[in-house]
Amino acid sequence: MRELTWEITRILGGREPGCYAPDVTIRLRVNGADHTVAVDPETPLLFVLTDDLALRGPRFGCGMAQCGSCTVMLRGQPVRSCVIPVGRVDGADIVTLEGLGTPAAPHPLQQAFIDEGATQCGFCLSGVILTAKAVLDAKPDASDAEIRAGLGSVLCRCFTHTRMLRAIRRYADGVKR
Ligand code: FES
Ligand code: FES
Repeated sequence: MRELTWEITRILGGREPGCYAPDVTIRLRVNGADHTVAVDPETPLLFVLTDDLALRGPRFGCGMAQCGSCTVMLRGQPVRSCVIPVGRVDGADIVTLEGLGTPAAPHPLQQAFIDEGATQCGFCLSGVILTAKAVLDAKPDASDAEIRAGLGSVLCRCFTHTRMLRAIRRYADGVKR
């Protein structure tokens, strides 16, 4: 599956299909656990997270840094893992949506989404939740307009934006208390 999606990404990016570099050993710390994988270093980080590490938080949406569904936290900042060659993040500390909390003990921002029923298919949640957290980590008293601006490039295909903004506001108000 990785080869197929990688071929699509190569073609969309204007690269020659079918040309793979030899595998190299890459070390990643993901959600607090150390992993070693042997891959073509040009493989998008997203494919390593989903195909090699079996994580289901980051999703393949556009593969072109346009939608945000593949978002992960890298060095504390939300990044689009579909366009980051894994070879460039060897040794990095990465947090995905499932690293934020657990089903038994969700992060308060995840809990706010549950409380507000702020999702439908959930495909966009890595982008929405991790980006909202980064916005509020940087500015806990961010206004609704600032939160909306921060989320401007994260797309929700189900148009659940109103409930999501309500959940983010619920979390932000709780953080301020
Ligand atoms: S899949 Fe990465 S931004 Fe759309
Ligand atoms: S809830 Fe479906 S894409 Fe956002």
